[in-house]
Parts: sequence; structure tokens; C-alpha cells
Amino acid sequence: MFAKFWVFLALFCLHVQHSHGATDKVICYVASWAIYRPDKGEYHPKNIDPNICTHINYAFLGVYPNGTLQMIDEWGDIEKGNFAEVEALKEINPNLKTIISIGGWNAGNAILAPIAASPELRANLIASSFEYFEKYGFNGLDIDWEYPEAKDKENFITLLREIKEAFQPKGHLLTIAVSAIPIDDAYDIPGMSENVDVINLMTYDFHIPGGGIAAENSPLYWGGADTPWQREYENVNSTVVNWVNAGADPGKLTIGLAFYGHTFQLADPAQHDLGAPVIDAGMSGPYTKGYGVMGFNEICEFTGDWTRVFDDQQKVPYKYKDDQWIGYDDEESVALKVQFAKDHNMAGLMIWTVDMDDFLGLCGPKNGLLEVIKQNL
Ligand SMILES: *[C@@H]1O[C@H](CO)[C@@H](O)[C@H](O)[C@H]1NC(C)=O
Ligand SMILES: *[C@@H]1O[C@H](CO)[C@@H](O)[C@H](O)[C@H]1NC(C)=O
Repeated sequence: MFAKFWVFLALFCLHVQHSHGATDKVICYVASWAIYRPDKGEYHPKNIDPNICTHINYAFLGVYPNGTLQMIDEWGDIEKGNFAEVEALKEINPNLKTIISIGGWNAGNAILAPIAASPELRANLIASSFEYFEKYGFNGLDIDWEYPEAKDKENFITLLREIKEAFQPKGHLLTIAVSAIPIDDAYDIPGMSENVDVINLMTYDFHIPGGGIAAENSPLYWGGADTPWQREYENVNSTVVNWVNAGADPGKLTIGLAFYGHTFQLADPAQHDLGAPVIDAGMSGPYTKGYGVMGFNEICEFTGDWTRVFDDQQKVPYKYKDDQWIGYDDEESVALKVQFAKDHNMAGLMIWTVDMDDFLGLCGPKNGLLEVIKQNL
């Protein structure tokens, strides 16, 4: 009787542990260069709310060809106080984890591939990471390798395993950011999942103006037969399902939330539905100034003569006015994505990037999108 009870209890606990892993991570990338944005766009790491973000991924540091970490902007990182401000957030939340992010467009394949391939260079990267942890207080390393190729597949796992073996005993974290669409010949997904603490899925940029039609940045679901221009896997749901089916532990996966949208210039202002023809990227943001990209803090100010439509199939909004069209995320779509992460027992959410939230409260409460995450987690 008692034995039966204990077996039952053990099975129950296993079941609970497997199916109800807490969805509690809010991994906030911060763009180190946001300190140089003009006017209401200027953002410093001290502006981050460390009671909502559980992890801060500082983007980016580079890597020298010899594997040593490289400050790309020493003026911003040190003199202007970015590193110190990130570290000081732990006075507000002592559980906050801060992570150095390497990669992105600063350290692409040309740098990371030779490092992953060499035992000596891998050891240099690990030693250099420890120096940064000791000197500046960071808790971990995030690798955004865009993107490994087939020849790098095994080396990537070796790199991750060696870093994990060095970090784990000291309590340091290793995270990666990956392509939403699993790269079959370059990603050993079970191997990646086994050797990292978190896999951040870059579930955005599914549609950009080069595609010639107005389409969403980060649909939650496939648009179905109504959207022949869109491949069935180009959405958050399919990304998560495909990564889990390929062997990723859902408890290590985060959904990447884009705190920005892609802008398009319509070919004909009278045709503004999803899938409308476009001739170019649309307007740039007054603060972020990127080509065909605007932050949520910039988009949210477009009210009045702009029309907002919430697409019920893909569960994301778009906005248009005259020949301008923007596919983006707002409070409504972010809430649904948070719910999706919880329903799928994922680790949580990743944000690219917090400096594009409505951090001044120009359109509603301060940090409007982060607040939605907090309320729905
Ligand atoms: C790697 O290269 C950088 C830049 O040249 C240099 O400062 C650093 O000392 C080198 N590190 C090692 C371990 O050789
Ligand atoms: C989610 O994605 C999977 C894989 O693409 C698909 O089989 C499933 O139907 C999708 N779910 C919904 C509700 O669209």
C-alpha cells in the first residue's frame, strides 16, 4: 500500500516536473548603441526594469581571431558606463543574470567557425569569458552565431560542451540565439539543447520588404490558404513545434519577441491588405533610423489617421496610412505569445530589444510591452 503510494507520488512528481516547467524567463537583449539615439530614442542600460527582465543579454561584444573577447565600443561599454549600469541593476534585483552576447553581425561565421574548430582558440574564448565575469560581473555568455554551416556542425557542439563544462561548476550560464528555421545540416539540435541553459529562438524577420509583398514580421500562426506567399513554417508556432520535434527541450526554449516592426512602401495605397504588393522598404524610425525597421516606441505614436488591423489568423497587427504599411507586434499580440509560451511549457520569452519598448510611456504605461509580459506570465 505504502509502496504503491510512493510510486504514485514519484510518478506524479515526474509528470508535474515534465509538463509544468515554469515559464518564467524574460531574457532582455539591450542594444549597447541605443545610448547614441537622438531625442526620445536615447536609452541607457540603467533604464531597464530588472523586476521584469530576469536576464539581460548585452549586445554585442566581438571576438578577436585568437578567441579573446573584444569590446567593439569601449567608449560606450566603459567610459559611458554601460557595463557598470548593467551590473548596478543587481542592486535592485539580486537575482538578475547578466550575459555577454557575442555574434550577431559583429562576429559572424568568419570569426566563430575557426574558433569552434580549434581547441586552443576555444580555450582562449573560455578564459577570456572568465576574465570578463571577474572584472565586470557578468554571469554568462550568449552566442548568436549567424550562422554555422554544415562543416561547423560538430565543432559547434564541441564548443558548447567545453564552455558548459567550464561554466557549470561556477554557476555561469551559456545561452544561444538561433535561426527560427532549424538549419538541418548545421544544427545538431539534441546536442545544442543538451549543452546550453537556454536556446533563444529568433522568431521574427519572417517577412522583409525584399519579398515584394506586405507581410508580417512575426506571425504567431500560419495564415493558411489565404497567404500563398508565406511558407507554412514561417511563424512562431511552427518554429516551436519543429524545434521540439527535432529534439529541443521545450523547457530551454524561449520565443523571440520583436519589439520592432518592418515597414513597407505599398505599390498602390488602395491595396493595403496582407499580401499587398510593395515596391520598397517603408519609412525609417526617427530614433532607430534603420532601413525598413521601426521600434515599437516609434510605431505606437502612429495613431489618428493610421489604420490598425489585427489579423485574426496570424494573431498579429499591422498598420497603414497612404503608401506606408508596417507589420509589427503590440500589447495584444505579445499577450498571446506569452500565453503560447506558457501553454507549451517553454522557458519563457526573449526580447529583441528592450530599448525599443515604449520606455518613456509615450503611448500608454511605461515599458508597455514588458508590462504585458509581466502581467501575463
Ligand atoms: C588576442 O588578440 C588581442 C588583440 O590583438 C590581444 O589583445 C590579446 O592579448 C590576444 N590574446 C591572446 C590570448 O593571445
Ligand atoms: C502549429 O504548427 C504545427 C507545425 O507546423 C502545425 O502542425 C500545427 O497545425 C500548428 N498549429 C496551429 C494551431 O496552427
